[in-house]
Amino acid sequence: MRRDVFTPYAVALDAVSKLPIERGSRILDLGCGEGVFLEAAAAVLETKGSASPAEIASSVTGIEQDPRRVAASKGRLALRFGGSPADWDVRCVDALSVSEAEPYDFIVGNPPWVRAHHLTAESRRDYRKRFDSATGNFDLSFLFVEKSLRMLKPEGRLAVIVSSGLGVQPAATQLRGLLTERGEWHLHSLPREGFKPLASIKPALLQCGPSRLLTAVEQDTAKLDPTPPAESLGEIATIRAGVATGADSVFLLTEANAKALEIEESRLRRVVRGRTLQGRTEDNVLVWPYEADGERWKLVDLSAFPATEAYLGQHRDRLANRPRLWDSIQKKPDTWYRFISLPRPATSQRFAIADVFRGPAWTVIDDPTTVVLNTAFEVTPHAGEEAAVEQALRSEGFWSTLTDKSRRLQGTYRRTSATELAALPL
Ligand SMILES: C[S@@+](CC[C@H](N)C(=O)[O-])C[C@H]1O[C@@H](n2cnc3c(N)ncnc32)[C@H](O)[C@@H]1O
Repeated sequence: MRRDVFTPYAVALDAVSKLPIERGSRILDLGCGEGVFLEAAAAVLETKGSASPAEIASSVTGIEQDPRRVAASKGRLALRFGGSPADWDVRCVDALSVSEAEPYDFIVGNPPWVRAHHLTAESRRDYRKRFDSATGNFDLSFLFVEKSLRMLKPEGRLAVIVSSGLGVQPAATQLRGLLTERGEWHLHSLPREGFKPLASIKPALLQCGPSRLLTAVEQDTAKLDPTPPAESLGEIATIRAGVATGADSVFLLTEANAKALEIEESRLRRVVRGRTLQGRTEDNVLVWPYEADGERWKLVDLSAFPATEAYLGQHRDRLANRPRLWDSIQKKPDTWYRFISLPRPATSQRFAIADVFRGPAWTVIDDPTTVVLNTAFEVTPHAGEEAAVEQALRSEGFWSTLTDKSRRLQGTYRRTSATELAALPL
């Protein structure tokens, strides 16, 4: 599940300052979090001569579903611009269901980024009925952009932070059409730094409005600078076998067991393995005795995690029976719990492909902490190639070629390898 990523004030202020906001402009933020964009908009209004808290408050509206964040936004605005928290118009409602009757001059913000496969089946069905942009493996942020377009005045302008993939992702085709219908739009890449927690996907500022109103901004390179098509998957991504623990039956345990044993949260990881990609539910978590150290994994000192240490300690003898682990135990008696193999720590979006399949069996992994186990391959796109990899995995051609080239197992099952995947033509 994706965590919410909060925008640094300087980025929000920069985005809002690019808009031709005037005294009396109506500004809205859908999914305002703790009010960073509302504060920036109010600060700009102040420079335009809006003097009293009441006047600024009548211009700025936030919508947020989390009541604690609503309270934080109101408190933040009252603290900086005056008035009482109750004077500020921040509403605790579902942004995707608010009335579209009173249009706004400007809509700003950083809506939630959540891929469709992380939503419940019921929400997906509901969204597909209500939003044109809810197609394929859409992202929740697409719906916020579509809703914003409906809530803008005809001359209104949008400035929201989205994933830079919106410019190229096949799932965003419909949304790009809606933006184009509106007039002109640009994606302007933003640095990841400052977003909290660090954005795992490259963020970009999406600006949209009637053509004649849009000031020149740097053009999005992903949109305007298509690179020559690659010939194989290995040219646009690194493909590695997933993690081999050497003792899955010890390191993998059900969420309920992990909870009952009070294993420290930071020592557990969600996992993806072949069976998850074949549609089976994954209720196991992985004990993860590592931390990232630049481009490598470093074993953590488990004495800081007594429940994890005690749990693994109980299994030490069992682990010692595994030939490769026995070797580790001999060499490093204090860090005997190491795994057999680990790909590098993830810093960006990845994909997983099942090693055994009988139809498309893959997923997008947005959460950098999720571990791909060795019944699946971890596919890490080279910088800027995320959308191309996703497009390939989505295409029927990819899977029919893979079926032809891979080894036949029982029935209609096939087995593939990292080398085979890397050589697969796109
Ligand atoms: C990515 S965070 C960004 C918050 C803030 N705009 C910022 O940039 O710091 C998205 C926010 O949208 C809120 N949100 C998610 N779904 C929502 C919905 N359906 N209606 C209203 N708010 C929602 C979340 O609670 C979260 O605070």
